[in-house]
Amino acid sequence: MFLFINQKGLIMYQYLKKIMFLFDPETAHNIAEFTFKNGYKACPYIFSKYAQQHFIVDDMIKQEVEGIEFSNPIGLAAGFDKNATMIKPLTALGFGHIEYGTLTPKPQKGNPKPRLFRYPEFNSLQNAMGFNNDGADKIALRVKKLYPFTTPLGANIGKNKTTPLEDAINDYSLLIDEFKEICDYFVINISSPNTKGLRDLQNEDFIKSVFEMGLSKTDKPIFLKLAPDMPTDNAISLALTAKQSGAKGIIATNTTIDYSLLPDAKDFGGISGEVLKEKSYNFFKEIAKELFGKITLISVGGIDSSEEAYKRIKAGASLVQIYSSFIFNGPKGIEEINRGIIDLLKNDGFAHISDAVGIDLKGD
Ligand code: FNR
Repeated sequence: MFLFINQKGLIMYQYLKKIMFLFDPETAHNIAEFTFKNGYKACPYIFSKYAQQHFIVDDMIKQEVEGIEFSNPIGLAAGFDKNATMIKPLTALGFGHIEYGTLTPKPQKGNPKPRLFRYPEFNSLQNAMGFNNDGADKIALRVKKLYPFTTPLGANIGKNKTTPLEDAINDYSLLIDEFKEICDYFVINISSPNTKGLRDLQNEDFIKSVFEMGLSKTDKPIFLKLAPDMPTDNAISLALTAKQSGAKGIIATNTTIDYSLLPDAKDFGGISGEVLKEKSYNFFKEIAKELFGKITLISVGGIDSSEEAYKRIKAGASLVQIYSSFIFNGPKGIEEINRGIIDLLKNDGFAHISDAVGIDLKGD
């Protein structure tokens, strides 16, 4: 399993991937989780050795965003470490921040299986997980053992399936109370397509009340994660409402329900990865045109290379996140994106990443 912890990380990962892809995607995920969790416990030095060699430390890409120090701009998007069981090993692999969750107040099993599908020929995934997680109490106990942590941690929060939409705010409120001392930022997730009715909460009234509630409880920055499937005018006005109500950042985007993007897509769940790239970028770009300079912007969706990450940074993203490309390219991808960003900054004559953030929007 630790084959990939090797100087030739990328090549080795291609072998490991061949084996992992023999399993159905959720089993492969569970094997990875088991291996990271127990591998780290048994041999933490292997991970620290990997980190010593591959974790990119460079002042050019180190930045403070919303009062938080990020050693690099590449974060792990929500949904990979739903239960916060892999924070230490994942950090050793090179991520500049980890967003754990989405978690809900009560534990829940999520949607019926199979609910995770891979499309290797398109470097894409489709999932209908439905916020399967251990629940707030268990996850909070886990995170308390390691917080404050060396790398920024985001708590991505959602509502239980059984909570009626009209009571959803109570779930978010409870989670902010429980996690406000054990995360560096919060993400309000109302953009997953896999909890019935959740995306209906992407409306001005709910956004206003959830951020006002959050602001009354914590000084930690709270971000809003948006789905890419609404008209951008709508998204811009929701983002502005969020900002006026106290949101410090917008994360765009979650997975898409545009099933035309993927041949043979299922007609349920959300699509991520390469086929989401263009849609997610276009959505992000439109939001950034209106919101850049007013609120922190984080881009996610189909990012799989330093060129793509840099494009999002120039379009206004202070940080970017990945999920699907981590599955298809492995940990070496994180290092390559970070190294590539440094090269691209140098090529453009920038001394620091902050010089490039939003440069496309700054005029001549
Ligand atoms: C996700 N994503 C996700 N997002 C979120 O806010 N909460 C979650 O629980 C999950 N769960 C989840 C599970 C699986 C299996 C996948 C593939 C994705 C969405 C994820 O964070 C990200 O926004 C999208 O996947 C787009 O990024 P990529 O995958 O194209 O890099």
